[in-house]
Amino acid sequence: MEKKVLYSAVQPSGNLTIGNYTGAIRNWVALQDSYECFYAIANMHAITVRQEPAELRRRTLELCALYIACGVDPEKCTLYVQSQVPQHAELTWVLNSLTYVGEMERMTQFKDKSARHAENINMGLMDYPVLMAADILLYQTEIVPVGIDQRQHLEIARDIAVRFNNRYGETFRVPEGYIMKAGAKIASLQEPTKKMSKSDENLNASVFLSDDRDTVIRKFKRAVTDSGNEIKATEEKPGVSNLLNIYAAFSGKTVEEAEREFEGKGYGEFKLAVGETVADVLAPVQAEQKRLLADKKYLGEVLSSGAERAFKAARKTLSKVYRKIGFYQGE
Ligand code: TYM
Repeated sequence: MEKKVLYSAVQPSGNLTIGNYTGAIRNWVALQDSYECFYAIANMHAITVRQEPAELRRRTLELCALYIACGVDPEKCTLYVQSQVPQHAELTWVLNSLTYVGEMERMTQFKDKSARHAENINMGLMDYPVLMAADILLYQTEIVPVGIDQRQHLEIARDIAVRFNNRYGETFRVPEGYIMKAGAKIASLQEPTKKMSKSDENLNASVFLSDDRDTVIRKFKRAVTDSGNEIKATEEKPGVSNLLNIYAAFSGKTVEEAEREFEGKGYGEFKLAVGETVADVLAPVQAEQKRLLADKKYLGEVLSSGAERAFKAARKTLSKVYRKIGFYQGE
């Protein structure tokens, strides 16, 4: 039986955080045997915020190495760079004509980013969810493993797919989100009601996948906790809840098990344990990423064969779309 398609991507737009790992990449690895997986490096999304060209190029390769270092197997999955498959831009243009400005203006991420980059509210920033819909729909995707912050974009992708199918006849599979309970929403260590983000200006707020052991432990030691001394995941304790969540995601235990483990212990001991657990998981990933980055030829081969495979799949869908909407494709 043919495997169902799974699609996901990360932007090479900064240092990846442990949220990107637990919310996305880690789950990709767990799913790669059960699905036909496409994992992209979303560099076209990245340029909606100003990027340094040399850095963007370097981060693209680093992200490829990171995917593999985390356990994504390029023999099983299609790993590629978004801009190397032109159908993403082409389908975006078509879908743009089925998407309303009002819908895009309502997107939480657009509103957040517009506030943060008031000097650069460009069309790409607003169109970002349509490009993401094109990514997903090009591959007739069944499931999309993402963190909670991408849920709204996924809903729009589904709406656009349904809208297209209603207008032009069955063309796109309507995708489902796949959001794991543990680790789908890692919060900032400094402001635990906000999500942990690659682009936070406060460097103590985010733990990066590239942070060395001492840095990881130091950041957790400085993490904001809450008043009281109980180590319990409750709404009144967003700081402690976040740390318990991180601990659970990185140790493979449940939050309840973690609560029991730290019962009666102090915040200091707890935060150290969380830091050590995270650092233990990151160390082998970092070593493997470094090893892979020394072999640019291998990474280049992975990405060019990935782009070729993605291109073939994407071409099929785009040609169908062009036929449906009445674009001339030759005699
Ligand atoms: P990006 O690069 O912002 O984030 C990549 C993935 O990491 C998840 N994530 C988190 N999960 C838990 N806690 C956090 N603090 C946290 N921060 C980020 C995100 O939910 C995401 O799964 N638009 C996407 C990239 C993209 C994409 C796609 C994803 C482009 N095309 C098609 C899925 C399908 C993005 O910016 O992710």
